[in-house]
Amino acid sequence: ASVVEEHVSAMLRSEREDEEYADVDWDNLGFSLVPTDYMFATKSCREGNFEQGCLSRYGNMELNPAAGILNYGQAKLQIFIQKTHTKYSYYKRFFLGLIEGMKAYRGEDGRVLMFRPELNAMRMKNGAERMCMHSPSVQQFMEGVKQTVLANKRWVPPPGKGSLYLRPLLFGSGASLGVSAASEYTFVVFGSPVQNYFKEGTAALNLYVEEVIPRAYIGGTGAVKAISNYGPVLDAMRSAKARGFSDVLYLDAETKKNIEEVSAANIFLVKGNTIVTPATNGTILRGIIRESVIEIALDLGYKVEERVVPVEEMKEAEEVFCTGTAAGIASVGSITFQNIRTEYKVGDGLVTQQLRSILVGIQNGSIQDTKGWVLEI
Ligand code: COI
Repeated sequence: ASVVEEHVSAMLRSEREDEEYADVDWDNLGFSLVPTDYMFATKSCREGNFEQGCLSRYGNMELNPAAGILNYGQAKLQIFIQKTHTKYSYYKRFFLGLIEGMKAYRGEDGRVLMFRPELNAMRMKNGAERMCMHSPSVQQFMEGVKQTVLANKRWVPPPGKGSLYLRPLLFGSGASLGVSAASEYTFVVFGSPVQNYFKEGTAALNLYVEEVIPRAYIGGTGAVKAISNYGPVLDAMRSAKARGFSDVLYLDAETKKNIEEVSAANIFLVKGNTIVTPATNGTILRGIIRESVIEIALDLGYKVEERVVPVEEMKEAEEVFCTGTAAGIASVGSITFQNIRTEYKVGDGLVTQQLRSILVGIQNGSIQDTKGWVLEI
């Protein structure tokens, strides 16, 4: 483009950026990427401190071909112990990459609110420690997220139409040829307006219990939000989806008898006045929505049990639901294990519905936040 054309398009762009809302079909958002105006980035130096970050136009990033994330993300640190006398193997996969997921909501009063964002910042910091990566401080993380939300405010959907999903990333960007941890790390935040995570929308999910591929391993990274938790399950997801299921429920790698979590969400079952969820023993992600739902349920007078949950126990539940930042609180209509399908109650007036309406109310500001969970941006 000529200089004049570039100038004109920059002017038009900045005029559009003054508008309250971006040009988006707000009624038809799903969970696919809608590029926004800006992203935030900063790099660490060899000592591990991050520079002051800055916003730039959303777009492609440059990476050195020798960047840690591309070269030694997995292969260098993979430890593989084959137990030949049993059917399972242990892998420890270490990718030099962590993600976070968080949402910004527009309240009826126009305020833009985020839900417990410091917990994401702390989880990234703890995850970085586990993965031997440099990490931005909680304050630097929060600064990056706030700047990204403010710069992309017109992409925060109108009240009730979804949220701006924020994806903070941390990865090894320093170049090295030999096997070594990266010398430099990059922290990036970008966003995309989203609505329902599952293609089912708000309809109940049909889950398939995967018996061959586990999601995480004892001593592995299942409890941190490492990118290595997501790649290895794509195969199981693909085959479950091809058979008409919404997603996969994984079992523990060791005994294959106990449920752990869904590909991108934690799982809960309701049995009378008791709400049960697998205990986070190092292989399960401590989801922020998981923690919040437990607290809300306790406040409402439910009994909450965090413990080992045998897959067979799923047959005794009345209601089942998944929780996650992306997933929200999603009702599960059925679980299929060894070709036996167990169905659950879904619809109004149920525990799932009650928990969801309180959580959503706190997130969008329509229920008063008495817990200090909500941050106005
Ligand atoms: C989230 O719930 O925010 C996640 O990060 C899960 C997934 C979309 C990767």
